[in-house]
Amino acid sequence: MKILLLPGDGIGREVTSQAVKVLRAVSANGPQFEIAEAAIGDAGLAAAGDPLPAETLEAARKADGILFGAAGTYESDLLPPEKRGGHGLLRLRKALDLYANFRPVFAFPELLGASTLRREVVEGVDLVVLRELTGDIYFGTPRGIHRDEATGERVGINTMRYTESEIRRVAHAAFKAARLRRSKVCSVDKANVLETTALWREVVTEVGREYADVALTHLYVDAAAMHLIRSPRDFDVIVTGNIFGDILSDAAAMLTGSIGMLPSASIGPTGKGLYEPVHGSAPDIAGKDLANPLASILSFAMMLRLSLGQPEAAEAVERAVRTVLAEGYRTGDIMEPGARLVGTEAMGDAVTRAVHGQKV
Ligand code: NAD
Ligand code: IPM
Ligand code: MN
Repeated sequence: MKILLLPGDGIGREVTSQAVKVLRAVSANGPQFEIAEAAIGDAGLAAAGDPLPAETLEAARKADGILFGAAGTYESDLLPPEKRGGHGLLRLRKALDLYANFRPVFAFPELLGASTLRREVVEGVDLVVLRELTGDIYFGTPRGIHRDEATGERVGINTMRYTESEIRRVAHAAFKAARLRRSKVCSVDKANVLETTALWREVVTEVGREYADVALTHLYVDAAAMHLIRSPRDFDVIVTGNIFGDILSDAAAMLTGSIGMLPSASIGPTGKGLYEPVHGSAPDIAGKDLANPLASILSFAMMLRLSLGQPEAAEAVERAVRTVLAEGYRTGDIMEPGARLVGTEAMGDAVTRAVHGQKV
């Protein structure tokens, strides 16, 4: 099994290094992996003059699973798009047609006290945001900043756009995922204002007729944001477009205690995928051994399950994460009074020991 590592920028390298330790522990007991590494993001720009170098894309096409860290920095976010680290990631998702981005939001019982929300609100939260990842206002044209000829003013333009087939395929992915969970899909849109998402609602409803056993509901995105914080346990699968999914998943992360806990899987038509934490390069804590590596480690577990056909190894990694949390290991973002404050490396080492079945 070929795994491609794309550490990228900021804390990307720190957190993926911990996932690699865990990967080595997993292969000590079973599956063997061939690991390669390539540059992406600001690191790709520095190494090869492109945030998505051609050789990185080629290696990504050949890999069975891609473990991605983070791309972009506040500095490169200000450069023209073709030089922005984050655009390397957007291009990679598009090139591999990774349209289904699963972002599970699971409130670990061990971490209920770490959430900014009350324990009784977050207890039992187990939902997944399925974010469409290759369409929407992220990729629609026309786009750009132009000078309006009549007024001389600058105008910024982006286009929200979805085709019927783009909506249909992610809707199927949502209903199929729901069948393996609690058989509920909530589709999130802004159909009262935006035609793109009125079409979204229509097509999701049509697809839903093929899944009579799954309960389908709809919410407007503003109300969905409110419901997520008020009664998050009501949700099972939330399916939504690229931009709404980006925003709602960061908000939902706080139900678990930290964005440092949220893994994700971005899957395309072949079942191969890119596995990435939901968080970014976190320039404020980069290089200080402060980042929580659990989102990256849990992303590797998703890879084992969804792309590598290793459900038992995936469970072993998830169990190891539960063990270290139960033993009180905490990075700063999930720290609670009385717990054991550790850095990125020590957290990675503890999970590695737990995978080996050693005392943590
Ligand atoms: P961010 O997710 O990087 O950070 C937001 C906040 O969460 C920061 O305070 C950060 O310290 C904290 N945080 C994030 N991950 C953490 C972790 N693992 N452990 C502990 N704390 C963590 O978002 P941002 O600050 O808006 O963006 C920073 C840069 O990353 C920008 O250049 C942005 O474009 C890029 N970005 C990349 C990705 C990606 O590669 N997938 C995602 C989001 C943002
Ligand atoms: C994410 C990030 C990216 C996105 C950025 C870095 C392009 O926020 O993966 O959630 O907006 O998709
Ligand atoms: Mn995001």
